[in-house]
Amino acid sequence: MLRRPRRNRKSQVIRNLVEETSLSKKDLIYPLFMVQGEGIKDEVPSMPGIFRMSADNLMDEVDACVGLGIKTFCLFPAFPEDQKDKYATLSYNPDNFYLRTISKIKREIPEACVMTDVAMDPYSSDGHDGIVENGEILNDETLEILGKMALAQARAGADILGPSDMMDGRVESIRKLLDEEGFTKVSIMSYTAKYASAFYGPFRDALDSAPKSGDKKTYQMNPANVKEAVIEAELDELEGADILMVKPALSYLDVIKELSETSSLPISAYNVSGEYAMIKAAAQQGWLDGEQTMLEVLLSIKRAGAKIILTYFAKAYAKLNL
Ligand code: PBG
Repeated sequence: MLRRPRRNRKSQVIRNLVEETSLSKKDLIYPLFMVQGEGIKDEVPSMPGIFRMSADNLMDEVDACVGLGIKTFCLFPAFPEDQKDKYATLSYNPDNFYLRTISKIKREIPEACVMTDVAMDPYSSDGHDGIVENGEILNDETLEILGKMALAQARAGADILGPSDMMDGRVESIRKLLDEEGFTKVSIMSYTAKYASAFYGPFRDALDSAPKSGDKKTYQMNPANVKEAVIEAELDELEGADILMVKPALSYLDVIKELSETSSLPISAYNVSGEYAMIKAAAQQGWLDGEQTMLEVLLSIKRAGAKIILTYFAKAYAKLNL
């Protein structure tokens, strides 16, 4: 035999030499869930190892992760139901605990890079990402609220804004507003191809943010489509996004690949709550090796073409010190 591919697999040293994809903790963003109060650290039942934390515990967590080499955090708030309203007014009130905690992190742990979520659902009494009227999600009216929310987050000191709402035209309207107000250095990581997915279930439990009626299919994408992701990517590029995201990651590796080949912007992928829960659940049953599965999954997302991965495994990965 002239060709023996196994020669390139004969030892760990050779395998390392020919390895095509490598993962680094520098690629990872750690999503964190926040609640109001003090001394709170409640584990999310469907996400073992992931907690809803009050600001004090969250600060300790950010500090510990920065020490382990995880430097970017995507923060999601859970607000009590009685503070929510139809127009998500709380989202741009500078006194809300989410915005105050962002400022505190930036003040006290300046190495931490803070990414936010721009969407109405955690603040909306309807549980949707936009304004609901007669069962419809209004697009252009929602942009106004998203703009106010984005500005408030920039004022609080956020480094990266993450519009996850899937309204048309939101990247452009947020970019223009930020620039007008002098926030030219604040980045936008757009949730470019965000699919209407069942894999968000544990996240919605964690934040109590499930839609009160209907579903998100008139704004989040149809899992059957990939060309549409290319349209979304072209628009987000033109509208001024700095980084494009695909979400979820594992059932959408082909979409990650497609965007990484068609766009010159960096691509990120969100390894979402349901993808985390599946591995944790199987590992708890002893049906899978949790650590090996985590490594393989993260590597596969990178191999597909994502430079950046948002993952609930970020801290666990960093602890391995690979
Ligand atoms: C809300 C938002 C969702 C996630 C991130 N931002 C849920 C949704 O769209 O209903 C999901 C993240 C995850 O499942 O880990 N705008």
